[in-house]
Amino acid sequence: MRQAGRYLPEYRAIRAKHDFLTMCKTPELASEVTVQPIDIIKTDAAILFSDILVIPEAMGMRLDVIESKGPVFDEPIREVSQIENLQAENIVERLDYVMQAVKMTKEKLNNRVPLIGFSGSPWTLAAYMVEGKGSKNFEIIKSFIYNEPEAAHRLLQILADSVVGYLNAKIRAGCDAVQIFDTWASILSPTDFEEFSLRYIRYICENLETNGAPVIVFAKGVSSYKNLANLNCDALGVDWVRNIGNVRAEIGGAKALQGNLDPTILYAPKEKIRQETERVLQSYGRGAGHIFNLGHGITPKTPVANVQYFIECVKELSAKYHAEEVE
Ligand code: CP3
Repeated sequence: MRQAGRYLPEYRAIRAKHDFLTMCKTPELASEVTVQPIDIIKTDAAILFSDILVIPEAMGMRLDVIESKGPVFDEPIREVSQIENLQAENIVERLDYVMQAVKMTKEKLNNRVPLIGFSGSPWTLAAYMVEGKGSKNFEIIKSFIYNEPEAAHRLLQILADSVVGYLNAKIRAGCDAVQIFDTWASILSPTDFEEFSLRYIRYICENLETNGAPVIVFAKGVSSYKNLANLNCDALGVDWVRNIGNVRAEIGGAKALQGNLDPTILYAPKEKIRQETERVLQSYGRGAGHIFNLGHGITPKTPVANVQYFIECVKELSAKYHAEEVE
């Protein structure tokens, strides 16, 4: 997660010359930074360099990604009328630069590793569109869903339809798998998560034309995986707060699981990185269905050598868990 990012000097060298959105919109640059970590840290998959917020940007919302501040919409959605003015029609055409980046990345990867495409979930996208930026308490989006539930559902449905079109186009362009990020699942109670987030993720999963590409759903910070286990998807992401073995037991092996090392373990001494990697592997246990990953994105100050070491540890230590299928 965020493997193409600021912790890599090679990324920063390109970022120093271009703003973030220009990098997303220029297939040559987006594909170059997507491939960087494959050569440098040697992961088994590439994730397309882009951002979840290209969807609202393509709907006409002006987006700035400011160093140290993160993404900002200068005119967030504050009136119900703004929802009807979103340009959702033909959105995939306006996101064609992403499809070009997918195609160029596939050429550069030359089948060395698969390419993962992604989208934000409707709920997480709506949270940014209404708040205008990241937030601590998310009071604006939450008062919106409680005071204007109909308008909120209208916005979420518009986003869900856009995400379906967008991910289908990414799969057609060549992505080998797609992931739906619901980063802000964590701020909803279980009932509100079902009403304002999960039902739209379910709609997306039902309407994807995957052509065999696995679908991964990452809902960060949820307390239960039971309802996620019924989704028409292949894998579920797990953040580091849960014990991945408990999640496996909770869903009775219904889905593959992806996760879940705490990304800040990558600041620890080597012995600790190795020990914690082994702990996650042990927690999942033997057998297929574990995609080793971090529980969330790599943070900008992470030492590259530690990331390289972590990946060596995963490759070395996972063999004994996955070599034989003892189910
Ligand atoms: O390598 C990858 O993981 C692929 C690229 C990727 C980015 N953003 C690049 C990026 C992915 C998958 C995302 C998804 C994304 N973007 C999410 C969902 C996943 C998550 O991390 O929770 C969210 C919530 C966003 C919105 C967003 N974009 C935030 C919160 C930020 C600031 C992040 C920070 O660390 O400051 C961004 C900007 C962003 N997206 C950067 C990168 C590499 C840093 C931009 C820069 O170079 O200044």
